[in-house]
Amino acid sequence: MTIRPLVIIPDSKLRLISEPVKEITSEIRQLADDMLETMYDAPGVGLAAIQIGIPVRMVTMDVSKSEDERQPMVLINPEILWTSEEKRIYEEGCLSIPEYYEEVERPDRVRFRYMDLQGETVEQDADGLLATCVQHEIDHLNGVLFIDYLSKLKRDRVMTKFKKAARREAGA
Ligand code: NI
Repeated sequence: MTIRPLVIIPDSKLRLISEPVKEITSEIRQLADDMLETMYDAPGVGLAAIQIGIPVRMVTMDVSKSEDERQPMVLINPEILWTSEEKRIYEEGCLSIPEYYEEVERPDRVRFRYMDLQGETVEQDADGLLATCVQHEIDHLNGVLFIDYLSKLKRDRVMTKFKKAARREAGA
């Protein structure tokens, strides 16, 4: 397992639409391992493959919030099947937008479908943090970031901050 470097805004890779996984190969299993390792190291509760620069429809998550009882999930080609009318506000962050947190309103409950690493199709209902997380991560596969749900003013402010930081890094 390898910890891979994270892709940070304003990197345009984060706006790519990721491609479906066609077959679960050893490369895909390796990618899942690396994504989990990178996510736990960060630490974060979710990671999409594009966040380590690979534009395929894969997500890792662990919302257990416990170091002792890890509950890693690997979602291949995940999709949202249903969302509740009721909304919920949760303070979100993103490993591609370090140390920035804002409240985002999303459907409170979702039903989603994905393929696991054994190639089995799984359908699952979620609420709470898992519901928020799965929506946030599937957004990444479609080039959408949580800051897209904020006001233009807030989004511009955070983009400007990270563009300046990227320029500083490039100039250093
Ligand atoms: Ni994210």
